[in-house]
Amino acid sequence: MLFQNEFENLLEYTISLEDAPQKEPLRQAFFVGRCREMVSFREKILGRKLRCQATTLGCQMNAKDTEKLLGILKEIGYEPVEEQEEADFILYNTCTIRENANNKVYGHLGYLQSLKQKNPELIIALCGCMMQEKHVVDTVREKYRFVDIIFGTYNIYQLAEMIYRRLMGEMPVLEVWEKMNCIVEQIPSLRKSDFKAGVNITYGCNNFCTYCIVPYVRGREISREPEEILSEIRKLADDGVKEIMLLGQNVNSYGRGLEKPCTFAELLEECCKVDGIERIRFMTPHPKDFSDEVIRVIARNEKICRHIHLPLQSGSTEILRRMNRRYTTEQYLALAERIREGIPDVALTTDIIVGFPGETEEDFEDTLDVVRRVRYHAAFTFVYSKRTGTPAASYEDQVSPEVVKERFPRLLEEIRRIAAEECEKEVGQVTEVLVEDIDSHEEGFVTGRMGNNLMVHFPGEASLIGQFKKVRLLESKGFYYLGEEV
Ligand code: SAH
Ligand code: SF4
Ligand code: F3S
Repeated sequence: MLFQNEFENLLEYTISLEDAPQKEPLRQAFFVGRCREMVSFREKILGRKLRCQATTLGCQMNAKDTEKLLGILKEIGYEPVEEQEEADFILYNTCTIRENANNKVYGHLGYLQSLKQKNPELIIALCGCMMQEKHVVDTVREKYRFVDIIFGTYNIYQLAEMIYRRLMGEMPVLEVWEKMNCIVEQIPSLRKSDFKAGVNITYGCNNFCTYCIVPYVRGREISREPEEILSEIRKLADDGVKEIMLLGQNVNSYGRGLEKPCTFAELLEECCKVDGIERIRFMTPHPKDFSDEVIRVIARNEKICRHIHLPLQSGSTEILRRMNRRYTTEQYLALAERIREGIPDVALTTDIIVGFPGETEEDFEDTLDVVRRVRYHAAFTFVYSKRTGTPAASYEDQVSPEVVKERFPRLLEEIRRIAAEECEKEVGQVTEVLVEDIDSHEEGFVTGRMGNNLMVHFPGEASLIGQFKKVRLLESKGFYYLGEEV
């Protein structure tokens, strides 16, 4: 299969891995070049282009990683396509935040095997957070032996080298580091959107919330140098990007450990100075580190969106303590109030977990109470999922599925009711939206995103995509609006 046979006689291609430059990103550029030659050779034989397809599960971090991986694949010569059935390289960037995220991947692997039987060219690569778990890699190697390349969250930048190894016959190629050995910048990237982009500001997490697997699969928190971040943003602006989202598991702790100190507030303010960038968002701020300075910077910079995602997780101080969130219900409420005072038109959204071990009816009521007080514009709600290796997995008082089943819809209903009331208040206003797409439900309509992150559907054509438009909100549909351009 693959290119091995054709190439084994061609001496110029049988370079040994030791011949490659050691320094990054030079080393990867070298492998990109090698792979490119091999791909183009193969294309000549087949008389068609080789194509790649990527599926991203999980959060914005993974989405950003996928853009980098597709950037490398494109450099190598693979043409990105939407359909897996058309692809010669299929990539799955996995998430392991909850158990059902994992099951989805296993569920899909059987199908990929059937594609491989149809297309002997096909290379299947698995990466992302799930691959940082030893039991997952063991399962894949044992039960899904057709998977060609398995790599971890710290090995993204080495994709070209791994593909080269695969093309030279190694099977499977396995590269899962246990920690971030180095940050490699300047990786090519294929952005999903022409006008929106995510920008990593920190990698990893130091918080160890007791339910959460992220610190184990993404490692300790590292901040990128402000100059690296700003030069990436300037390049994006030159490329026509108008909206950026600063990404980190806890953006508020940005800057710790940098040689020349820089706080998140300072970084935000610098980002606002980049011409061409008109909207700045960030995800995710941890309530325990949200400084008043950040509130002031947002208040005085119109470019920073009036939307703050402020994960609550639970409204009970006792549960928060057991979660190791390091804030009390009162501290969270006081912070929400300071934010609302400082930024009057802000929309707050949140994440909530239902059924954390030990959650009593009273604790759950406390969560409902915070929801009623803070009045979120939207909220993501999750059923607690036990993650192997996290402290909460061994807590004895796990909540029964029946109890969770009873509580979950009560929370949803409260969130839905309040969000609808909050949305209703804004009907009649004129607001600026960034048009993102054509509306898939209504012909002749487009959808745009407001600064507060809500969507507006209004009559318009595809040519508006990527532009800012002023729109009057005519009708609230709960989580989105119908509007008209003014
Ligand atoms: N760093 C972010 C969260 C990243 S994970 C923060 O601290 O806010 C996104 C969300 O997934 C979390 O906010 C939490 O609500 C949810 N989550 C994480 N681990 C979970 C688990 N084991 N079970 C259920 N939900 C979980
Ligand atoms: Fe997970 Fe907590 Fe870190 Fe967020 S802050 S990624 S919930 S450990
Ligand atoms: Fe999932 Fe990893 Fe993000 S576990 S939520 S993709 S950091």
